[in-house]
Amino acid sequence: MTLTTRLAIAMIALVAIAVSAVGWLSYRNLEQALLQRARDRIATHSRQLADDLEFAAADATGEAVRRALDRIRALAEPDEAIYVVNRQGDYLVHPDRTREGGGLLGKPNDWRADFPHLAALAGAGQGRTELTVDESGQPSATALAPVPLAGSSWMAVIAAVPNAVIMAPAASIRSASLLVGGIAVLCAAMLAFVIARSLTRPIVRLTRAVQGIPGKGLSSIPVEAGGETGVLARAFAEAIEQINAKTAALEREVHEHRRTVAARDHHAERESLFSGAVESSSDAIITTSLDGTITGWNSAAERLYGYSAAETLGKNIALLVPPDRRSEIQDELRRIGWGETIEHNETVRLRKDGSRVEVSLAISPIKAPSGAIIGISKVARDIAEANRTRQALRQQTEEMRRVFETSQDLIIVMDSRGYVVQISPSCRAILGYRPEEMIGRSGADFMHPDHLDNSRAELRAARGGLNLKLADTRCIRKDGQEVWLSWLGTWSGPAKRFFCVGRDMTESRRAQEALRESERLARGIINTALDAFVQIDDTGVIRDWSAQAENILGWPREEVLGRNVFALMGQPDGQGPLRKDLEAFLLSGNEVVARPRRELVVRRRDGEEIMAELSVAALRTRDGFLFNAFVRDLTDRIAAEERIRQAEKMEAVGQLTGGIAHDFNNILTVITGTIEILAAAVKDEPQLVTITRMIDEAASRGADLTQHLLAYARKQPLEPKVTDVNTLIVDTAKLLQRTLGEHVEIDSVFENESCPALVDPNQLVTAILNLALNARDAMPSGGKVIIETGFVVLDDSYVRINADVRPGHYAMIAVSDTGTGVPSAMLDKVFDPFVTSKGPGKGTGLGLSMVYGFIKQSAGHITIDSEEGHGTTIKMYLPSAVDSLPAPEPAEAPAVEGGHETILVVEDDRLVRDYVLTQLHSLGYATLHAANATEALALVRDGNAFDLLFTDVIMPGMNGRQLADEVLKFRPGLKVLYTSGYTENAIIHHGRLDEGVLLLAKPYRKSDMAIMIRKALLA
Ligand SMILES: Nc1ncnc2c1ncn2[C@@H]1O[C@H](COP(=O)(O)OP(=O)(O)OP(=O)(O)O)[C@@H](O)[C@H]1O
Ligand SMILES: [Mg+2]
Repeated sequence: MTLTTRLAIAMIALVAIAVSAVGWLSYRNLEQALLQRARDRIATHSRQLADDLEFAAADATGEAVRRALDRIRALAEPDEAIYVVNRQGDYLVHPDRTREGGGLLGKPNDWRADFPHLAALAGAGQGRTELTVDESGQPSATALAPVPLAGSSWMAVIAAVPNAVIMAPAASIRSASLLVGGIAVLCAAMLAFVIARSLTRPIVRLTRAVQGIPGKGLSSIPVEAGGETGVLARAFAEAIEQINAKTAALEREVHEHRRTVAARDHHAERESLFSGAVESSSDAIITTSLDGTITGWNSAAERLYGYSAAETLGKNIALLVPPDRRSEIQDELRRIGWGETIEHNETVRLRKDGSRVEVSLAISPIKAPSGAIIGISKVARDIAEANRTRQALRQQTEEMRRVFETSQDLIIVMDSRGYVVQISPSCRAILGYRPEEMIGRSGADFMHPDHLDNSRAELRAARGGLNLKLADTRCIRKDGQEVWLSWLGTWSGPAKRFFCVGRDMTESRRAQEALRESERLARGIINTALDAFVQIDDTGVIRDWSAQAENILGWPREEVLGRNVFALMGQPDGQGPLRKDLEAFLLSGNEVVARPRRELVVRRRDGEEIMAELSVAALRTRDGFLFNAFVRDLTDRIAAEERIRQAEKMEAVGQLTGGIAHDFNNILTVITGTIEILAAAVKDEPQLVTITRMIDEAASRGADLTQHLLAYARKQPLEPKVTDVNTLIVDTAKLLQRTLGEHVEIDSVFENESCPALVDPNQLVTAILNLALNARDAMPSGGKVIIETGFVVLDDSYVRINADVRPGHYAMIAVSDTGTGVPSAMLDKVFDPFVTSKGPGKGTGLGLSMVYGFIKQSAGHITIDSEEGHGTTIKMYLPSAVDSLPAPEPAEAPAVEGGHETILVVEDDRLVRDYVLTQLHSLGYATLHAANATEALALVRDGNAFDLLFTDVIMPGMNGRQLADEVLKFRPGLKVLYTSGYTENAIIHHGRLDEGVLLLAKPYRKSDMAIMIRKALLA
């Protein structure tokens, strides 16, 4: 609050208080006066009315009193209340007329209750006037004037004036006073403001001037102003000037003081710094006076020269100089005297122990602030170590340079952007560029575009890591050729360079490629070889196993790798000649296997032992030897040889038999030709007649025998002609029925209406007769003989496993019986002559031999299928004469349809099994195989999946039908196809198979098999 405001408020407050006090006092005085006046007025007025009423009452008529009362009502002053009351407390007159005469009306309104302070005057003869306080606490005036009446009647007049009426004049005066007072305060306020302003103006100006000093300086002080302001301003300005001058002087003093202190501290600091530096310097620092007296000697000097400071201070510097170098001191002093500084003065000094030390000296003058030279400072450094280091560095650099220059690898140094900074001269040989042609260019210029992105990424990665093997890349030679380089790279942070070493891999890659190719070649050979390839190491552990090895030996590759070949396939104890030979080989130190080819017995996975030919070669490797072996399965070859041997044997026996029979026939011809002559000569001698008959009978039996032998020896005279076999069988059957007897049933089944063959019909009848007789003999208690005919084609694959057969079309005649069957031990000999089971006199054992000889002589083929206790089927194949008939050539085999299903082949004859598997694979099928029912069931139990069971019917142990029944328990709904050497009719009638099941009769062609397999899969 400004001074002006405060002054104005004080003055206004003063005026207001004075006005209020005057107003309040006047009002109090006026109130006293007005109350007194009102009291007097109502006392008089009530008295007058009482007198008037008294006068009216004196008239003694009620009428006069009533009129007097009416008059009183009428005369009542408007600012005054008039009441007339009686002794009983009733109002006789009341401004509110409803309250009058209450006692009479039963609603008394007692005036004594309204005016309690006058109640005591009821009935009194004296009146009273008094000032009372009304309900609002304001003073009012009340007057009671009794009306003297005759008797006991009493009335009184009460006049009352309320405070508002009494004080009305005072209130108007108060209002006026308030108005006047307000105006007075207002005027006072204005006046106070004006006066206060004029009073405070100098102070305000001065204050503003002081506030303005920081901006305008002392010029803001109004020193020229008049009056108190001027006086004050001038005094103030003077005071300030004095203060300013003193302050400036003080500041100068402080500043000076500070500078002095700082300079002192600075010097002290520098000194301690210098002495610290001198002390901690690794160089020896020595100061001397101009005459060479040592004045300073730091600890590095102590280390370098071996003297302590105490030993040298005060001594002459010549102490350190070898005698032969003393002249240097004079020279130094002279040059320093001229103010010169001597740098890198390499010289020799003496140590305390007398040894010499190579030092580099820096000598400079020490100057006083005046510039005068007051001493010499010498800094000495032992340079022996530095020289050695420099030498080592030079050596190292030289070595590096040689490595760089002679490196066969490409050494490239690149900057951080990949630009070539250095490159080894080998770039000429590897890339065809001279180093200067490459330096300054980006490494990317020489890189094959295919590798750019990857190389950039690798170099980026190299920045964060250590030595890094980078990917091989192709680079482009100057002549445009590509070279393969293998890289190592590293980034040097301090040098900010990439260092990369690239090795030319072109040749090695080519070699690798060639190696891979030859590996592929070898693998190809192994995979396509007919022999099994097995590789073992020198402990016999299997390392490789070809697909053909899987086929021949039965183990899948993954099952055998890592297993020992001797334990797996050799003798059960793992020993054996092969193992011994291996051990002997390893001991011998040879590198060539002594017996690289040999034959040996090998055990297959199914336990069967086969003859195999082994061809083995040793290969020396880093870890020892590997043996590569080809294993050839000799079973086929042995079987073929066996068949040839058998055929040759038959041939030889035949020839021998034929020769004997021929000669014997000649002898018999002589006997039979001469016996009749003899018989005629002795006809009269009965005894001799009997003998000649006996000779004749014997001769004719001998003739029969020779006939049979000739037949077997394929030497009988044959008259082959085109014969319908069917017709022939129909005719023969009638004859047979009689021969075989009632208990043998004969059935004939013809596939075609006619079956022409090129054969001697008479001999064919004899052959059929022979077979039928054998059948009868095998069925002593009766049975059934089935004769079937049909066409078959014996193809190359059939011929391959059956020597002595020519491929082609044949008429087939099968004779089956339900007899005892041929004992298995006899089965492969039944066609040999004189093989019989019938005992002496019962059979000659020539029946089947004859049939065999006849069929072979007729360029045909014969097979026998028989199982002990179950019957026999003999099939004769005769050259088909279908060509010679007008009948059309049977349609070529229908299109062969293959598939991808898996077929389980169960066949006990390994040759047949292999044949079937090969054919199935060529048709695209996957296969599983087993040699008998037990193996097949094991496969099924192992959970091997397959779509068709293709099984032989007649097998040792469980037969095909029983196998199928067993398998169907595990795999209900499985498709089954049977095959058998027996004819369909024979096998069904033997009760082996149900009618309607699918049977593929042997022999069959690939197309027959394909069709039946498909049929079975779709069934
Ligand atoms: N269908 C057959 N069932 C059972 N065994 C047979 C059958 N056919 C031939 N054999 C056996 O083959 C042997 C040789 O038969 P083969 O016909 O050659 O001579 P054989 O019948 O014994 O005498 P022969 O026929 O000279 O009177 C027989 O003894 C017999 O054991
Ligand atoms: Mg016989």
